[in-house]
Order: sequence, then C-alpha cells, then structure tokens
Amino acid sequence: MKIIVFSDIHGNIDALESFLELIDGMEYERVYNLGDTVGYGAGPNECVDMVRKRNISSVTGNHDDVIVGRRDPGRFNPDARRAILWTRNELREENKDWLRGLNDFIWMDSSLGKALLVHGSPVNKDEYVVSASNAEKAFISMDEQDILICFVGHTHKACLWTQGIDGSPVFKPQAECDGDVKLEPTMKVIVNVGSIGQPRDGTPDGCFVVWDDVRHTMRFHRFSYPVERAQTRMKDAGLPGFIIERLGGGF
Ligand SMILES: [Fe+2]
Repeated sequence: MKIIVFSDIHGNIDALESFLELIDGMEYERVYNLGDTVGYGAGPNECVDMVRKRNISSVTGNHDDVIVGRRDPGRFNPDARRAILWTRNELREENKDWLRGLNDFIWMDSSLGKALLVHGSPVNKDEYVVSASNAEKAFISMDEQDILICFVGHTHKACLWTQGIDGSPVFKPQAECDGDVKLEPTMKVIVNVGSIGQPRDGTPDGCFVVWDDVRHTMRFHRFSYPVERAQTRMKDAGLPGFIIERLGGGF
C-alpha cells in the first residue's frame, strides 16, 4: 500500500493546491496530514476547507492548538504571535471546531508493524526531534509502545532518523535521500516529512513523503509552487515581513 504523509501547510493555499494537484496524478491508498494546518499563511480558511472537503485524516499541531485558544501564544516569537492572532481572528468558527475535534495522534497498523503519526515526536507532540539525543529518547518511547515507524513534521526540515547496528540514531537529511530509500524492517525509523507551506531546509519547494509499507521504502518528493503569489497574499493581509521573506528562501 502507498501512503502519502505531509505536514505544516501553515495556511499556504498556493502550496496546498500545487501539492494536491500533484498527488491527484499519483497512485496512493491513503493520505495523512500531521498538523499546523494553519498559522503564518494568508489562507487559513481556504486550507482547512480544502483538507475537510478531501476528508484527509489529520492531527493537531502546536499552531493549531494556540489558534483555537487551547494554549497561550506567549511562548511564540513576536512575528509568529502576530500571525497567530491574525489567524485566530480570521478563522471561521466551524473551522476552529474542526481543528478542536482532531486528535493528537493517529495509529496505523501496517503489514510491517505499528505506525504512529504525530506532529512533533512520539515522546510528546510538541517536542522537536532535532538531535541524536532527541532521537534516542524517541526510539526508547517507540520501543515501549511497540512502534516500528513514526512520522513527524514540526521542524519543517525533512529527514530520516534510522537506527545503526547498535541501535544508536543515524541522521540523513532529505537532500541525501535519493529515490526510494529502502528501510530495514527490524530497525525503527522516524520520518520527518518536512513542510508543505513553509519549508526551512534551504529550498522554498514543498515536501512530502510516500511510504510503501509492503516494500518498506520511503520516497521524499519536492514540488515547486507559486511562492510570489503566496507572498503577495500575505502582504495584502498585513502579515509580518520576516515570515513573508522566509518563504522565498526556504529558511
Ligand atoms: Fe509548523
């Protein structure tokens, strides 16, 4: 079975439309969204409407939680906070309710073992897996929960964390993952699927993965979208300059 997993749309309707158009031409059985559907971008309602219309299974991200009022925006930097408050004001109540109704985790049984889909980490949905020590903790948590494979977003930087022979974490950025990456069925893996609407790994192109759970292969896909159109929408909405700029450079 081919499974598409993506994350961090961040209210970027131009990126979301390009992504959906691309996958409409692909063969797949399931598609999952790992959260931060809104926040930063100028099309929060358009993005939620689209995900709802397509009935895409989704979890919540930290931005979604703050925007629907589950948490205080105090922990975010001033630009992110401004975007959060703008989105909170903009998002229709029915779309907030839809976000409130999502779970923090999705469990999936595959032919190889249990898969977990979560925004940040199997330890905690808000935690970032950015270092070997984070990955080590995450692998221990996966062991305790009998999880073979965990899909995350949150950092906006696509990569693979696999296990070496001694079980220690091995990092591989997306740029080094060419074509179908064959995974070892006896070793655990954490897949960071990157971001649809605000990549931060040096390219503005959106990112998602296709997992073949029979062959146990992972393929990262990058796609271009009309970045300038997304930036113009954000300018017109009065969103902070830094957030607009970073879309163009992918930082
Ligand atoms: Fe995010």
